[in-house]
Amino acid sequence: MALRDYRIITALVLLVLAIVGIVLLVFPAKDMENPPENMFGIVLDAGSSHTSMYIYKWLADKQNDTGIVTQHSECHAKGGGISSYAGVRGGAAGSLKDCLKQAVKDIPKSRHHQTPLYLGATAGMRLLGKVNATESKRVLKEVEKEMRSCPFKFKEAAILSGQEEGAYGWVTVNYLLENFAKYGFVGRWLNPGRQTIGALDLGGASTQIAFETSEVVEDKDNVMELKLYGKTYRLYTQSFLCYGQDQFLRKLLAHLITTQGVKTQVSHPCYPQQYNTSVKLGHDVFDSPCTQSYKPASFDPQKSVRVVGTGDYRSCLDSVTKLFSFENCSYSKCSFNGVFQPNVTGNFMAFSAFFFTHKYINSLTNIPITSPSRLKEAIQLICNMTISEMTAKTKQSEKYMKNVCAVSNFVQVLLLQGYGFNNHSLPSISFEKQAGGASVGWALGYMLSLSSMIPGERLGLMKALPLGPWAGILFLFITLLFIALGYLLMIYRSTKSKEGIV
Ligand SMILES: *[C@@H]1O[C@H](CO)[C@@H](O)[C@H](O)[C@H]1NC(C)=O
Ligand SMILES: *[C@@H]1O[C@H](CO)[C@@H](O)[C@H](O)[C@H]1NC(C)=O
Ligand SMILES: *[C@@H]1O[C@H](CO)[C@@H](O)[C@H](O)[C@H]1NC(C)=O
Ligand SMILES: *[C@@H]1O[C@H](CO)[C@@H](O)[C@H](O)[C@H]1NC(C)=O
Repeated sequence: MALRDYRIITALVLLVLAIVGIVLLVFPAKDMENPPENMFGIVLDAGSSHTSMYIYKWLADKQNDTGIVTQHSECHAKGGGISSYAGVRGGAAGSLKDCLKQAVKDIPKSRHHQTPLYLGATAGMRLLGKVNATESKRVLKEVEKEMRSCPFKFKEAAILSGQEEGAYGWVTVNYLLENFAKYGFVGRWLNPGRQTIGALDLGGASTQIAFETSEVVEDKDNVMELKLYGKTYRLYTQSFLCYGQDQFLRKLLAHLITTQGVKTQVSHPCYPQQYNTSVKLGHDVFDSPCTQSYKPASFDPQKSVRVVGTGDYRSCLDSVTKLFSFENCSYSKCSFNGVFQPNVTGNFMAFSAFFFTHKYINSLTNIPITSPSRLKEAIQLICNMTISEMTAKTKQSEKYMKNVCAVSNFVQVLLLQGYGFNNHSLPSISFEKQAGGASVGWALGYMLSLSSMIPGERLGLMKALPLGPWAGILFLFITLLFIALGYLLMIYRSTKSKEGIV
């Protein structure tokens, strides 16, 4: 009896020892001590129509894990994009002041000096660079000076190329959805990486498409290879300048005005019936590099034209389609305007203005966009609505509602005829504004890439050295666990058989 108790105690001690050993190995003591502090990073997204600021945060010791960086707060600067302050000294810098002040408040003072600060400008500044390169450089210098005067660690104020903008959007989407290989604590991979999804971005002055492809990319300008956590991703990325929603609407107006002749009144098939507004030929229509090819030989830029809506779906779709060229493809296949594109594959996330267009279509018609024919059906209904019907249904101002028919048709032509989404692939697009608590856009991917928070090296290799002995000791403890269990089982069995005899 006494011997049996003694053996049980020994076995239990071994068992407890094994469990404690395993627990100590798997949950490192460091993680159990005081929780690590937050780090912060700031990105100013200087778009063509406005500037937004995003503050991200992450735990100081976990910056290389995916799904760890989250959005802390955001700020939307009043007034136009920085490119709209061309020729206005101090204008662009002034427009950032309120948001930067908010950042000073939002981030703990002790972290200020180590918080990286980035500004990325997109198509608005790319267009200004075309019109007046000196002025575009001056605006950029001016915002850089303003950023340097902040208590943060200034990193960069740059104009992103269209390809970069597309790729950073793709990085953001897949980071937030945790599609990249994910690294867990103490040298283990939680997932080896999932199928990535494509990114569709619609801004004010340009639109981007980016997705992983295994097809041959015939135009080398469209390939981007990204090495993330030791895995190489081959992206197709393309940006269409002047195909953002504001510049597209301008092109549409320019097209209507030139085809109808410069008169005091022009009819607009995409505006709601009876809706009318007045536009200045220079400021609202032809003062943009995007409408240069429509410019009449001579016109008075100060002249106002009354634009009267006719709410005609068919005619609107025709006019919108004329702004795309589906001819002259020098590759095996093209999306539009002679640009090569492989077939769209996999799932996509569509954000920014795509999200709002989808939201308006939904709230105006309640028709889910599950196929090209449902999309068409919904847009037909919208183009037949009056402006007051639209503002009543969505509680949004006329400013936005007057363009929903035009922009929906634009999105329809872009996605179906342009990118080639069809009955099968259109439902694979999800329209989102946020994912994992962060705004979807290029800003997060830009910060992650520039700060090498998504290293190209496989993290397993970086931590490989301590992994060897660690795994060895873990193995020993697991063996001990089994020995203790086996020992207990043996004691139990022998007791049972003895009891059987008695
Ligand atoms: C470009 O901007 C500069 C100011 O930076 C101005 O002096 C110049 O006139 C502008 N050029 C054109 C062609 O508008
Ligand atoms: C323009 O709209 C106003 C109401 O906003 C209306 O009174 C006027 O008749 C319209 N003009 C045209 C030419 O349709
Ligand atoms: C797509 O679906 C519509 C209606 O469901 C059908 O008429 C059309 O033929 C389909 N197109 C293709 C390419 O499958
Ligand atoms: C994260 O990655 C960077 C760049 O590869 C590296 O320098 C850094 O040591 C890594 N940090 C951690 C916590 O592993």
